[in-house]
Amino acid sequence: CSLGGDELICTVESQGLECSSQQTNKLLIQGGIVVNADFQQQADVYIEHGIIKLVAPNLKAVDGVRVIDATGKFVMPGGIDPHTHLAMPFMGQETCDDYFSGQAAALAGGTTMHIDFALPVDGNLAAGYQAWMKKAEESCMDYGFHMAISKWNDDVAKDMDWLVKEKGINSFKFFMAYKGSLMVSDEEIIQGFKKCKELGAVPQVHAENGDAVEEGQNRMIQLGITGPEGHSLSRPSMLEGEATGRAIRLAKFVNTPLYVVHVMSIDALDEISRARHSGQRVIGEPVASGLALDDSKTWDPDFKIAAQYIMSPPLRPAGHKEALQAALSSGILQLVATDHAPFNSTQKALGKHDFRVIPNGVNGIEERMHIVWDTMVNSGKISPMDYVRVTSAACAKIFNIYPRKGAVLPGSDADIIILNPNATTTISAKTHHSRIDTNVYEGWIMKGNIEVTVSQGNVVWEKGTLNVHRGKGRYVYMKPFSYLFDGLDKLDATYLTSLRAPVHRAA
Ligand code: URP
Ligand code: ZN
Ligand code: ZN
Ligand code: ZN
Repeated sequence: CSLGGDELICTVESQGLECSSQQTNKLLIQGGIVVNADFQQQADVYIEHGIIKLVAPNLKAVDGVRVIDATGKFVMPGGIDPHTHLAMPFMGQETCDDYFSGQAAALAGGTTMHIDFALPVDGNLAAGYQAWMKKAEESCMDYGFHMAISKWNDDVAKDMDWLVKEKGINSFKFFMAYKGSLMVSDEEIIQGFKKCKELGAVPQVHAENGDAVEEGQNRMIQLGITGPEGHSLSRPSMLEGEATGRAIRLAKFVNTPLYVVHVMSIDALDEISRARHSGQRVIGEPVASGLALDDSKTWDPDFKIAAQYIMSPPLRPAGHKEALQAALSSGILQLVATDHAPFNSTQKALGKHDFRVIPNGVNGIEERMHIVWDTMVNSGKISPMDYVRVTSAACAKIFNIYPRKGAVLPGSDADIIILNPNATTTISAKTHHSRIDTNVYEGWIMKGNIEVTVSQGNVVWEKGTLNVHRGKGRYVYMKPFSYLFDGLDKLDATYLTSLRAPVHRAA
């Protein structure tokens, strides 16, 4: 499907029809294996007005109900991508997918909701929220926001209150890298973590030591290494491990849950593993690219190819992705994101003579569901039920929107995919729906094809065709105090009673 310019895929709109006139709002998916994170069964799924009404074997269709045959296929919750950057200004550029093109791509790949990172505008969170709401007017699927914290003061604390209590945001990201732009200090992290805990919002970290990264970059330049390979050489995995360990210890000190985004290395996952082993509530999020790719392509002599693979933390040498896959299958890591931050080749070319200014980010919002199926399920590393857990259910639970999202259950939103395990799909920039002109998975043939995507009860992807509508996406409010916060007060009380009474000494 080629996307010409802006008006891409809305077949209904292009015929000048009302969106809803082409869709029956009653749908019966028959004969498939319905997979949830904790149960799978042969069953039919009946949907009305965007909500799942029944999940049971042998449902009969009546007049006015559209029937989809899913015999031999898996019927699962649509994917939730917990980490995307649509229309994000970053490193002097803006990611080339806006809310419409990025979400259309997501739907074509079986993702029916994403949580995007809103950035403050000049440090102002409220302005950042408004700016992201404006971008999201183009939406064609459901979405929520995380908010980044780029400095600390009373206004930031007040805006966090407002965003959590009134605007449905329940997570905040702290960048420990990108010195001079988004990076925050340990002092700011401690204050921010305390505020998150008070509000029941999940603190998230981009864990790399930004001061050391700067030193590493200077070293590369001094050595005359200015090409894309200098990127990963300048920020080795030990710097990711250090920052991950530091964030984990600060979270323990504050007694708050912690969510580590884009875990890319053995060093970071070892820190997470140790913390979880000791009972600490740490969530680790690998991304599709980190699970499936290594850094080898960043040595490609063709700059255009090498630059595509530049992201932070960087793709790592062979060995790391296998460890991340193992950690995902054993439960050390909990859910898979994409960190979709697409920059096209002209944007990447700005760093042709200096890797430090190549805009960081890779594509993935359209590919994640297929990559995880192929890499993890086809290889036998996880089961279809685990697949549902790591692609949707765990995310819905962490961000407190389960079982509205992340489940095929009566009462849940009708966001559903039908995956044919015997069909294949080929990934290419020539056929994908994102606006990016390259694809880090170019030419990959994946076994397992998401043949149908249902979003809000409408069939939006079928027979290789999208049928999506600008403005149809809904902002999903996410309440604070997810399960991750249950019992923290008891741990606080234990800490307090463990302190010895102050000693009174004679003057
Ligand atoms: O390279 C990346 N990851 N770009 C997006 C910004 C971020 O750090 O998540
Ligand atoms: Zn990041
Ligand atoms: Zn990111
Ligand atoms: Zn439309």
